[in-house]
Amino acid sequence: MSPKDFTRRDVLKLGAITPAASALASQFPTLPFRDDESARQQTDNQSGTAERERLLLDFNWRFHFGHADDPALDFGFGLSSAFAKTGELFLPSRENFDDSQWQAIDLPHDFAVGLPFVDAPELITFGAKPLGREYPATSIGWYRRVFEIPQSDLGRRIALEFDGVFRDCMVALNGHYLGRNLSGYAPFRYDITDFANYGGKNILVVRVDATEHEGWFYEGAGMYRHVWLVKTAPLHVAHWGTYVTSEVRHGVARISVATEIANDADTANSCRVVSAIFDNGGKRIATVRSSPATIAPWTRHEFTQQIDVLNPALWSVEAPNMYRLLTVVEDGSGEGSSAAVDRYETPFGIRAIRFDPDKGLFLNGAHVEVKGMCNHQDHAGVGSALPDRIQYFRVARLKEMGANAYRTSHNPPTPALLDACDRLGMMVMDETRMMSSSQEGLSQLGRMMRRDRNHPSIILWSLGNEEPDQGTERGARIAATMKRLARRIDRTRPVTVAMNGGWGKGYSKVVDVQGFNYFHNGNVDQFHTDFPAQPCIGSEEASAYSTRGIYETDPVRGYVSAYDVNKPGYGSTAEEWWNYYTARPFVAGAFVWTGFDYRGEPSPYQWPCISSHFGVIDTCGFPKDTFFYYQSWWTSKPVLHVFPHWNWQGKEGQPIRVWVHSNCDEIELLVNGESLGRKSMPRNAHLEWKVAYAPGVLLARGFAGGKMIAESRQETTGAPAAIGLSADRQTIGADGEDVSIVTVAIVDEKHRIVPVADNQISFTLTGPGKIIGVGNGDPSSHEPDKASQRKSFNGLAQVIVQSQRQPGDITLSAASPGLRTASVTIAAKAAALRPAVS
Ligand code: GAL
Repeated sequence: MSPKDFTRRDVLKLGAITPAASALASQFPTLPFRDDESARQQTDNQSGTAERERLLLDFNWRFHFGHADDPALDFGFGLSSAFAKTGELFLPSRENFDDSQWQAIDLPHDFAVGLPFVDAPELITFGAKPLGREYPATSIGWYRRVFEIPQSDLGRRIALEFDGVFRDCMVALNGHYLGRNLSGYAPFRYDITDFANYGGKNILVVRVDATEHEGWFYEGAGMYRHVWLVKTAPLHVAHWGTYVTSEVRHGVARISVATEIANDADTANSCRVVSAIFDNGGKRIATVRSSPATIAPWTRHEFTQQIDVLNPALWSVEAPNMYRLLTVVEDGSGEGSSAAVDRYETPFGIRAIRFDPDKGLFLNGAHVEVKGMCNHQDHAGVGSALPDRIQYFRVARLKEMGANAYRTSHNPPTPALLDACDRLGMMVMDETRMMSSSQEGLSQLGRMMRRDRNHPSIILWSLGNEEPDQGTERGARIAATMKRLARRIDRTRPVTVAMNGGWGKGYSKVVDVQGFNYFHNGNVDQFHTDFPAQPCIGSEEASAYSTRGIYETDPVRGYVSAYDVNKPGYGSTAEEWWNYYTARPFVAGAFVWTGFDYRGEPSPYQWPCISSHFGVIDTCGFPKDTFFYYQSWWTSKPVLHVFPHWNWQGKEGQPIRVWVHSNCDEIELLVNGESLGRKSMPRNAHLEWKVAYAPGVLLARGFAGGKMIAESRQETTGAPAAIGLSADRQTIGADGEDVSIVTVAIVDEKHRIVPVADNQISFTLTGPGKIIGVGNGDPSSHEPDKASQRKSFNGLAQVIVQSQRQPGDITLSAASPGLRTASVTIAAKAAALRPAVS
């Protein structure tokens, strides 16, 4: 069966594919701003003063498990003093070390996702993967990469930048210790100028220890984010060295740019900073050139400049207009004798945010209700190692539901997520992991904020979540020290903490915006009466449970019905919390726990469940029914969704609970052509019928102003007959990074998705691509993610296909006993490659 046989409407009905989302995502290139100016950054190095290069160091790594208890299985680590002599760290750092038995991998790489699921009480909240003291053989990962640094780089500054490694890693280059990074989420950087072999091989070894967790959910393990090799001239824009803010008055945006220049040289250097601003279309709209300044050897200097932009295109949720700052560092103070020694790009947006204690959030002067979603970072098939494109896919899916805000609960995100939020128009509450004023806590917060402060999407910094100290004086001191640092790094955004108690005390005395985790946990109205000057936001709400496509709760298999009725004591249904908040305009809105299901926290169950039920969307991105509740009240397009499915063989004549989510004025329900009458749709609610089951067609009609404007149906299907495949994008970049996300559906003879089908499907792939993961959203599935087969869960599964660095047609075929096969072809087109280390 060809993909054409599998109609888009079939999939739409189950919400499996949405043209809107894919269209939205495809408007944006995987790698924004890869234009002429970026290309100029990648000039060949001819001398020690060549311009900046930023090279992806994701490809061609080797990986091997170590051992936390047995040095013999841990490449000798711990057998002798690692630090007795400098330059002798790690056996695998030796040039003659044979890594041919190590697994060949590319980053991002999550070494936890491929491990088997283990039934152990201590693992269940973390996703049932064997990590921890009890699992020494699977908690340590070694990574090794050999690469060349040319002789001509001598004299440049060279650094390794890690977007994030989970966690506690030690890094050595050529046997020299570079550092140890504890955080599994904060980015870090090592200067390797002194340790590099110029004109020869360089051996980079990273030992990752994921024994300890940082959260209470699945976190992944290993080098699950990008790594970069960055080369600059000695005189260069310092790491995260630009800070762009703006103020708009009377149609003019005054852009303030602070640029920190490092002079990593033995001689004083005089330089200027040229700052140019480009609009969304790549047109240069303003340029300013600073006066020269002389920077003493091994010091830094901050240049500040102001640039006016007339009639700025503001960044907003609906129109996420971006600008780009190009910073050119010109060496030499004299006119005419200057040479550009560094170019550095900073995407930014122009927008104003304000939290009002009585009216909530204002974006560019207009009131906007925060319709937010908390999310963890993992996705089906890939664990926490998401190719950048999947971030766009996920953010687009949330937008399609009507969400306008994303909380990076409970940790600094990967930069690609923030890029997706900037470009697709999604506000962000950016959260650090360790709520502490210790050196480590402040370092994690500082690194997150310095890296992220130019993203227009970020509206709020979160210092933490539900900490035991939240209502105490000690907590207040900790929060105050963190806030002092936050203010130094960014004076334009407020700070908050997500609190589930102690409101009015402790952290509350320090934060700019009060965060409430679950209105049931306290008294939001009382807080507002007692602290009328403090703006409020629902930092976390709902925690409602549901399983996609399930309409009868089944504790044995670990499934919760998808009607919006299931919740823990502190939580609320979608309908409850949304009505509570709409009645309180002084609260800026809230973030739902969660947008997507995630691994771990399988509440209300334990094993065999390994994945959460909190998502409004499952781990693959397939919407559950509540998706349409939010879409009804969060978007202005007509929405009508009737459920459950209509395959209740054996229940003929028995009452079935039929729900409708819609924003139409009136709904008529028909069963096999017979009307059960019209009901008017109450605002922010749903409609419900009890219907005696008879196979056939369940049809809902939606009316507005007396006219029928929408229809939604569920049909009793026949038995599974064929497989349908549908790729979210049939053309992708042949860059070794881009992916197409393929929906797999089990359909009947009439091409209708069989909503109860659980057929086992096997996949084969030909052409220059690979399957990097499979999933189906089943929270109790113990099937492997790294596989070429998967069962469908309630009719659907997902395959993630990634390109190689070679153009060509990639064909994915699917087969299942007794079903007609299907295939889909994805064209991997030659794409501008991100410059990478060879
Ligand atoms: C919250 C917590 C979240 C998640 C949620 C589950 O209290 O902040 O991380 O655990 O409960 O309901």
